[in-house]
Amino acid sequence: MEINVDTGKIIEKNYELLVLGIFEEEKYQGVNGIINKALDKEISKKLKTPEFKGKLKKTCLLTTYGKIGIKRILLVGLGKRKDFTLESIRIASGSAINSIRELGITSCTFSILGDDTKTPIEKIVENTVVGCELALYQFNLYKTEDRDIRKINKLLFFVDAPKSVSVIKKSISIAQIIDNGVNLARNLSNMPSSDATPTQITEKAKKIARESGMTFSVLSKKEMEKLSMGGIINVSRGSSQPPKLVILEHKGGGTARPIVLVGKGITFDSGGISLKPSEKMEEMKHDKAGAATVIGTMQTVAQLKLPLNIIGIAPLTENLPGGSAYKPGDVLKMHNGKTVEVINTDAEGRLILADALAYASKYKPQAVIDLATLTGACVIALGSFATGLLGNDNDLKKRITSGGEITGEPVWELPLWDDYKELLKSDVADMKNVGGRPGGVITAASFLSNFVDYPWVHLDIAGTAWTQSNAGVKPYNPKGATGVGVRLITEVLRFWKS
Ligand code: BES
Ligand code: ZN
Ligand code: ZN
Repeated sequence: MEINVDTGKIIEKNYELLVLGIFEEEKYQGVNGIINKALDKEISKKLKTPEFKGKLKKTCLLTTYGKIGIKRILLVGLGKRKDFTLESIRIASGSAINSIRELGITSCTFSILGDDTKTPIEKIVENTVVGCELALYQFNLYKTEDRDIRKINKLLFFVDAPKSVSVIKKSISIAQIIDNGVNLARNLSNMPSSDATPTQITEKAKKIARESGMTFSVLSKKEMEKLSMGGIINVSRGSSQPPKLVILEHKGGGTARPIVLVGKGITFDSGGISLKPSEKMEEMKHDKAGAATVIGTMQTVAQLKLPLNIIGIAPLTENLPGGSAYKPGDVLKMHNGKTVEVINTDAEGRLILADALAYASKYKPQAVIDLATLTGACVIALGSFATGLLGNDNDLKKRITSGGEITGEPVWELPLWDDYKELLKSDVADMKNVGGRPGGVITAASFLSNFVDYPWVHLDIAGTAWTQSNAGVKPYNPKGATGVGVRLITEVLRFWKS
């Protein structure tokens, strides 16, 4: 989308449609006040109507009947001033842009939402762009009919303080880099497994690395065998697609120790020999969402040229029940030498992550964050509103928790006490790959903790990686993959201090 900035006197403009953010029960200042006066207090009247009231995400369309040059005004509710956050901006702008798309209009102007608040203008602009571009995302690659082509291709920001123009332009370009990263992650996750095999995702990652100035490398099946990566190798055995382990490196931090991101990349999870029920099995194309987020985040941090060394690792494989598939009872030798008894082949994510996490150790990282659609238990525990967080380092947990609050991608901590490790004891190997149904999120993370020797946080995105219905869903998250984690991790890294 093309986004520009305009300044001058609002009353002299003749925009097709202008969006104004309106608080509940407010007096109007700035642009809102000027327009309210010019329209004979039409905004004040609308604020009293029960269907609008300025409530968050409600919209209300006004026609100006030639009273001013601007043809139509879209009011969008910002809610109560005391509850105003960056999330209000994203929700309001997502909601406004969805209404505009419904009108069939292809360009519009935003007066800086909430221009009379204490929030810095660059944050308002950044989050307005994020709300708009994420709301407009559509995955219609495979539609030949009913393809919703209503697009908004031009957005203008009106600001009455010309000295802010360069600041605004900078915020717009940052927001667009972030949005492209989120929408890349959404595309990779939404892609059917037949067109997003480990090999195809590897090729895509290679192209992204070339375009964004990252170093690309990949471990083949043979190399992983040599490295004794028994997790990835065995999970891949039931499929005819070879596994891959993709490594993307952004080198912006001189000699500093890197931060490593690891993402679960099961391109399809049938459960393997411990086959899943067929109901909703199609959703398991999203079991690569963690890898998708890592690739999307790597593109973002590289394009933002962050002054850090960041490495993204994506172990990629299918989990299928083919004739050579691994089986319950098998014992696997992992990359760090530990042995695992397979109880359930559907607990495959932790096996591929274990190898990738153990491999990350060779980079002597200052921190490692993994993202994975790891357990159905996390969906039961937290639903779709929060990502599960577990880890061994309070400082890293704090950084991620506050990043989640700022970006509207909240995380919620569960305990990683040693007691839970008991549940993973095996009679024949160092550990089992499952610890029973109770505390399923925690036993999965406990399993992973056997493979880390650095500050580490695990994010279980099983409930947040894709949306299933429109109920309770944010206006900027269309149905399907959300790209969760790209904005959160980018926020953490943008403001990282070693
Ligand atoms: N990919 C699934 C987890 C999942 C389920 C994510 C539903 C999102 C929605 C994972 O590989 C899995 O199947 N985990 C098992 C673990 C169990 C066998 C211990 C699960 O959660 O049932
Ligand atoms: Zn599984
Ligand atoms: Zn899985």
